[in-house]
Amino acid sequence: PSHKIAIIVGSLRKDSLNLKVAKSICAFAENLDCTIVEIGDLPLFNQDLEGTPPAAWVRFRQDIRAADGVLFVTPEYNRGIPGVLKNAIDVGSRPYGQSVFFKKPGAIVSASPGMIGGFGANHQVRQACVFLDMPVMQHPEAYLGQVSDASFDEGGCLKDGDLKDLIRKLSEAFHDWVDVIIRARAALA
Ligand code: FNR
Repeated sequence: PSHKIAIIVGSLRKDSLNLKVAKSICAFAENLDCTIVEIGDLPLFNQDLEGTPPAAWVRFRQDIRAADGVLFVTPEYNRGIPGVLKNAIDVGSRPYGQSVFFKKPGAIVSASPGMIGGFGANHQVRQACVFLDMPVMQHPEAYLGQVSDASFDEGGCLKDGDLKDLIRKLSEAFHDWVDVIIRARAALA
């Protein structure tokens, strides 16, 4: 079966490498029905607004709730998670007890022009996922380094190469992971 995947990209930049990686995953993952979810319009999280949530928060929460799984694709900012992505995670996690991430299967990809491939940001997202009680795929790990050297077509999609192969493997593994979690939860229900 094809699974519905919400992709959250941790960069708001028009020419974002991470957005291109996300678009490539959408294009190559034949068994995943991917949608890139907007986070650039989310007002900064403020607990005072929990009673009267901004429309963008409500829309974002619905987008995540409607998905079978969540894929984070993020750059690293100062060895950590970009603020816009942390904000989206915080918005989706509240009100307490109503987190849209609860028990959703997840996967994390980080991409950078640098050598380390956003390892720090990747693991900070993973740390948040522990608290969110998201079962996150362990392997293949995806710290995509030197992504600025990869070639993309006009639509922002990766051309042939090692990275394309890795992304194909990753999306197949994520499909199987979402499948396993959905089946396990159904069996326990
Ligand atoms: C960066 N960059 C960066 N890269 C990295 O590998 N580790 C880091 O800690 C940082 N820190 C950092 C901080 C800030 C504020 C910016 C703007 C950038 C470089 C970053 O990887 C590069 O700009 C990417 O191209 C950003 O991702 P997108 O927008 O291309 O997806």
